[in-house]
Amino acid sequence: MIEIEGLVKRFANRAAVDGLDLKVEPGEIFGFLGPNGAGKTTTVKCITGLLKPTAGRIRVAGFDTATRTLEAKRSMGLVPDEPFVYPKLTGAEYLRFVGELYGVKLDDMRKRIPELFEMFELTPWGGELVESYSHGMRQKLVLAGVLLHDPKVLVLDEPMVGLDPKSGRLVKDIFLKLAERGTTIFMCTHVLEIAEKLCDRVGIMIDGRMLACGSLAELQSQARKQGDLEDIFLSLTGGAEYSALLRHL
Ligand SMILES: Nc1ncnc2c1ncn2[C@@H]1O[C@H](COP(=O)(O)OP(=O)(O)OP(=O)(O)O)[C@@H](O)[C@H]1O
Ligand SMILES: [Mg+2]
Repeated sequence: MIEIEGLVKRFANRAAVDGLDLKVEPGEIFGFLGPNGAGKTTTVKCITGLLKPTAGRIRVAGFDTATRTLEAKRSMGLVPDEPFVYPKLTGAEYLRFVGELYGVKLDDMRKRIPELFEMFELTPWGGELVESYSHGMRQKLVLAGVLLHDPKVLVLDEPMVGLDPKSGRLVKDIFLKLAERGTTIFMCTHVLEIAEKLCDRVGIMIDGRMLACGSLAELQSQARKQGDLEDIFLSLTGGAEYSALLRHL
């Protein structure tokens, strides 16, 4: 569902993504991990067409994002790292706007929008301006927006940030249900526990390159180490020696 071949993205003379190859299968939940500045958001922006790759090829749902841009974009929904929503729209107006953009039928929207508000416990806020929403409420509204048009591929950049525990659990269950129905989920996260519980495979990126990729068992064998994802992550990214950093305290 997502095919990335030789992706390179340079800013000035520095490569933020430096030769990435990756395939994500239909119905798979893929977790994209890596330290700050590794190139995760840059990859997400290239997949979703917000940035033009310096080199390489990306296909989403079989459509080349460079030549079949519109079809590729129509096949996916993006939840970016900052939940930007026009502040002067109400929540309901925002969802109608998203629905119209993606060609959702009016009748479907009339039924679906109240259901989504109910699911995210935003019903009392539907008529309020987005500028009055908290960070977590905006995040939930953006999630409701992508669920409204029900794309084949969901690309999410740290979707759990700012969500309270109940909403976090809800979103995890939504992802599992969507994946069961065949939706492909590509998710950047720093929450290793979520990645471990939710993702079929994870990729660990560092300095623009994929350091390791696979199921937890595959990563354990690549790292020649047992233990949970946190142990493996720290061992692979060299973070295990982090105690040395504390000498500055
Ligand atoms: N517009 C830009 N111009 C110049 N450099 C950029 C730009 N966007 C990103 N970078 C650089 O690209 C590298 C990768 O950044 P990116 O945002 O992709 O990291 P990330 O893995 O998402 O990190 P985080 O975990 O902090 O979100 C960083 O060195 C960053 O400074
Ligand atoms: Mg990022």
